[in-house]
Amino acid sequence: MEISSNIPRGWSFYDLDKVDSTNEEIKRLLKKNKSTPILLIAKKQTKGRGRLNRKWVSLEGNLFFSFAIDFSELSAETISYLVSVSLINSIDVFLLNHKKEIQCKWPNDICFRGKKIAGILMEVFNSGKIVVVGVGVNLIQTYIDNSLYLVGDLSEFSIDRKALMFNFCNEFIRQKLNFEKHGFGYIRDIWISRARGIGSKIIVNLGHNQYTGIFRGVNNKGSLILEQYNGEEKIISTGDVIFISGV
Ligand code: BTN
Repeated sequence: MEISSNIPRGWSFYDLDKVDSTNEEIKRLLKKNKSTPILLIAKKQTKGRGRLNRKWVSLEGNLFFSFAIDFSELSAETISYLVSVSLINSIDVFLLNHKKEIQCKWPNDICFRGKKIAGILMEVFNSGKIVVVGVGVNLIQTYIDNSLYLVGDLSEFSIDRKALMFNFCNEFIRQKLNFEKHGFGYIRDIWISRARGIGSKIIVNLGHNQYTGIFRGVNNKGSLILEQYNGEEKIISTGDVIFISGV
């Protein structure tokens, strides 16, 4: 795959210095009836947000962008997998001999050498016809004070933030076409080939509840398949995965 450094045709593009959150800024544009697809990048975020309303510490030099697309023919799970796969492929091209060290962690984290380097925040806008996808990638700095998971960065590769973002967008369009042609299984199989910890012992934390067992992969809806210790299979559609043996 080659690095594609153009704004995709037909997308509006906003390049900002500082915002509270790129997701919030895109939602403001949508409220003003700006039409999709929209792509927005900012150098700084003062109120970056992660999944489950967690804070996303946004150190300058890292990549923060969001895009809004019409998602009438796509499910939220499909988009989540499309984004993860596209992000892995688009990072890969900058990593030369280290490509396979980038992995995905269910549901939609991206890891390098076992540490989280990128996160994805998806929000359905208004009537459910538009999805806003926010992507944060630790390109140069790591915020280490985090007890939930290990955090890493890609600083050794000197990746240009806009080059990665444009490459991602073009890869996303390519993978969306693959999905339309071959179905969800095609995207899921790419995800599985780069997934962390299939066959390992995990805890899946649902906030109010926890399940422990062996991670057996993901089903045709993108849900996690957990083989519990009593042999029963549990299908989980949302939660945080913790690897017990430190995979
Ligand atoms: C997570 O892993 O919890 C998701 C993190 C998503 C962070 C990105 S940074 C750009 C966009 N704007 C935000 O406020 N959040 C997302």
